[in-house]
Amino acid sequence: MQSKHNKALRGVLTRVGVVPVLTIGTVDEGVALVRALVTGGLAIIEVTLRTEAALATIRRIRAELPDVLVGAGTVLTPEQGADALTAGARFIVSPGMTPRLMEAAERWPVPFLPGAATASEAMALADLGYSVLKFFPAEALGGAAALKALSAPLAHISFCPTGGIDASNAATYLALPNVAAVGGSWVAPAKLVAKQDWAGITALAETAAALRG
Ligand code: 3PG
Repeated sequence: MQSKHNKALRGVLTRVGVVPVLTIGTVDEGVALVRALVTGGLAIIEVTLRTEAALATIRRIRAELPDVLVGAGTVLTPEQGADALTAGARFIVSPGMTPRLMEAAERWPVPFLPGAATASEAMALADLGYSVLKFFPAEALGGAAALKALSAPLAHISFCPTGGIDASNAATYLALPNVAAVGGSWVAPAKLVAKQDWAGITALAETAAALRG
């Protein structure tokens, strides 16, 4: 079942090119931030489950911004996956993979994007039917050069790299044949969020959305 969901996610990611990865302080701030990003043209959003406000923010986005494809990130356990689904997450992302997560994901009614950092991990996930994987932490693992090297032997696998990606290197990743989309927090800098500079964030989102044209 996940192989079908994951394949659909690959198509969606390829269309959008950039996925904001958000760590939310408060629910109101999170909703305003997502509005700013969506106004700028980024309608697929990953809310990481690293803060108290994450699940409630996903719930509010589903209620108030129904056209936004909001997912839960930093899902490390099946229990967190279940919580994310209850909150309304429309996809689930993990920095890695564990046997428990992979087993639970088979029952999730939404796409799962597991993480791989090595050829062996990517091959193991491809064996389970996953054709798009998170590549994390991308820059620390060798960045675009590492993904380019993986594209020769693993041409059938696409990646969504995250970790250290920003406006200066996103286009280099997106030019690779095995990159479906890039993810990152650079479109929602803490400084702009603190100032509630939503217009500034919309401008960053517009620039990022234009990367895939
Ligand atoms: C993630 O969870 O994907 C990363 O923490 C995002 O990394 P970044 O903050 O370097 O963009």
